[in-house]
Amino acid sequence: MIEHIKFCGDHLKILDQTLLPHEKKYIECRNTGTLIEAIKSLRIRGAPALGIIGAYGVVIAALESKTEKEFMEKVEKIKNARPTAVNLSWGVENVLNSADSFKSIGKMIDTAKSIHEEDIQKNKKIGKNGAKLIKKRFRVLTHCNAGALATGGYGTALGVIRTAFEKNKKIEVFVDETRPLCQGSRLTAWELKEENIPCTLITDSTAGFLMQKRKIDIVITGADRIAMNGDTANKIGTYSLSVLAKENNIPFYIAAPLSTFDRNSKTGNDILIEYRDEEEVLYLYGKKVATDVPALNPAFDITPNKYITGIITEKGIISPPYEKNIKEILK
Ligand code: MRU
Repeated sequence: MIEHIKFCGDHLKILDQTLLPHEKKYIECRNTGTLIEAIKSLRIRGAPALGIIGAYGVVIAALESKTEKEFMEKVEKIKNARPTAVNLSWGVENVLNSADSFKSIGKMIDTAKSIHEEDIQKNKKIGKNGAKLIKKRFRVLTHCNAGALATGGYGTALGVIRTAFEKNKKIEVFVDETRPLCQGSRLTAWELKEENIPCTLITDSTAGFLMQKRKIDIVITGADRIAMNGDTANKIGTYSLSVLAKENNIPFYIAAPLSTFDRNSKTGNDILIEYRDEEEVLYLYGKKVATDVPALNPAFDITPNKYITGIITEKGIISPPYEKNIKEILK
């Protein structure tokens, strides 16, 4: 499994995902400035991975700061580097809560490391729980990248796919390209190919056609934030997939650790959607692919709970009624 986040005592090494699949290059984050830049420009991305980076980020901020005030200002900036993935602030808060002051660096490192290690274990449990949904021969559609690169390792939606594959199920994965930044074609297809898991790349607009032709048995995606009623924020385009899945009677599942649930979001309306630079839409691989018009670039959308068949977590699969069952599992 790819080791894309490495903590090296006083700095972090991160595999730069913006360069994949063409180049495998690690960048060093020795201060919060480079770390925040890496988060904002998606060199590191994916909700659970952001949780881990937030956790290590607190350590970097502590190493860099001379006063508690300076430390807290840096931590706040890390927390706000991306607004939708709740795991980022979850990781930050967990490390903060484990330390007495900004000088308790040893304690912070221990907490960050255990968040990292536990995330991989949680992914494997998600994989095991979700693999039960995959029949002997199954065609799975996934969106964006919810794989090892988006987590501590192994993946959530891709964790389910990996486990099913390890159990010798004949699985075929249809990978949405996931415009504008192509996390599907650049990252998910790359991860699957590395492990010889059969996959086929499709443009985002092909998904409905395949569903209509009965070529998809299940849709599984990750999540960036799940509200207490099950409404889910994930990569832009997830909502459309969920509606298409319902229309075509195809089960639609979200796979996510419990750290992606947000006790402060009652419904999807409470979730802040990140809007990114229009250049991401106007350009592809540095080349302009549009004429001079303005572009709109929301990075995420909300899938209402009524379109979600179940939410696969490390503690089991949550089914409707979500309000009651999410409360129960988070106890
Ligand atoms: O903008 P990104 O690449 O950070 O978006 C990532 C996603 O939408 C993933 O599906 C989500 O974070 C879950 S990752 C296990």
